[in-house]
Amino acid sequence: MNIPTKNKTVRQSRAERSAGNGNAVCRRRKEEKMIKIAVLGYGTVGSGVVEVIEKNKELVNKKAGEELEVTYILDLLDFPDDPYGDRVVHDFDRILADDQVKIICETMGGVGKAYEFTAKALEAGKSVCTSNKELVAAHGPELIRLAHTHNCNYLFEASVGGGIPIIRPLNYSLTAERIQAITGILNGTTNYILSKMEYEGADYDTVLKEAQEKGYAERNPEADVEGYDACRKIAILSSLMTGKNVDYRKIYTEGITGVGPRDFEYAKKLDMSIKLLAVSKEAGEKTLAMVSPFLIDSAHPLHMVNGVFNAVFVRGNMLGDSMYYGRGAGKLPTASAVVSDVIDCARHIGKVIMCFWDQEEAELLDIDSVRRRFFFRVKSQALDTVREVFGNDILEVQLDGVPEECGIVTSVMSEADFAECHKKISDAAIGRRLRMEAVE
Ligand code: HSE
Repeated sequence: MNIPTKNKTVRQSRAERSAGNGNAVCRRRKEEKMIKIAVLGYGTVGSGVVEVIEKNKELVNKKAGEELEVTYILDLLDFPDDPYGDRVVHDFDRILADDQVKIICETMGGVGKAYEFTAKALEAGKSVCTSNKELVAAHGPELIRLAHTHNCNYLFEASVGGGIPIIRPLNYSLTAERIQAITGILNGTTNYILSKMEYEGADYDTVLKEAQEKGYAERNPEADVEGYDACRKIAILSSLMTGKNVDYRKIYTEGITGVGPRDFEYAKKLDMSIKLLAVSKEAGEKTLAMVSPFLIDSAHPLHMVNGVFNAVFVRGNMLGDSMYYGRGAGKLPTASAVVSDVIDCARHIGKVIMCFWDQEEAELLDIDSVRRRFFFRVKSQALDTVREVFGNDILEVQLDGVPEECGIVTSVMSEADFAECHKKISDAAIGRRLRMEAVE
């Protein structure tokens, strides 16, 4: 047989031909055994997924028990200079039609096309692993059910806490527990901003600009700073905690805008810190779920979580407290979590991995009845009125060199009572009020 190469024609020997045929058979057999993977969306996380699978190939294959190969990368763009650019396709139907593709990584984000492709993949019996918290929060139980109907899986470890293992611990490890509370720092951008304000005394706008320049914060930071990102993540965790669907649109959410350096001066004086917490707690038959900036005591395990790090503090009725800490965002940490799901799917081809997240809606507690302490700032000349309205059981905090204002820590009161009292002194109030969280 003559094999034309670029510059010459080479005569292939019989042995070579036979070896070649053997190789072809081996290759075919290997391909038959191999699990093909498709990555949807070649952005930060998608390219990270390919990098993790390729860099840790031997280890990933060993742990999966099969050889995994990223065969397709779906994106609108071409990547001619990328080492995996030859795997880029633009037509999802090619992926869908390939029976050897058993696992799909959805790293596109959003709910439009991502939802359509995920549903089609699951209906075709292909498992889907995702980092897409918007889609999981909006359609989680429906997609899990769809997957199980078709003997495949919809896994979403990377959707909360980036590289921190938290979905798997809730699903597999803490199965003997009744989870009573989950409190998380679930957004790296806001934690970075708050930490900078705390330790460098910087103001909000300057830190946000710096975070955007460093690529920590999005150009449009609304989803992070207004708490929407943390809200979707706590909706996912609350759903796994209750086993019912917690609708993220019904979770009370406040962001960090309006928190200023002066608030941190008071926090320091109180031996506290300010963190954007995402909270989910058992409240009888209901669930309290909310996102808000909180003053937390230095004894709180989440007090030491700074910068872009995330942490999830879980209370079980048997284990007690446990905490999961690490990088909550970023290319490789998030991709690592997606690939851990890929390995899980590879180990369970044709089998369902149980996940207790029903479509039945969880009933959320109206936060008006929740009791806690509150902190607010007030002009000093209004202190007598403040004492009249809030009673004498308040703590007054005076900063050195700032006689014109005073910080007030209230006694334990309901959200509704606080709002009513605070309205009465609103003319004298400075800045925004903060909630106080304590570990009971
Ligand atoms: N914007 C998110 C954060 C990215 O800052 O945590 C990870 O979900």
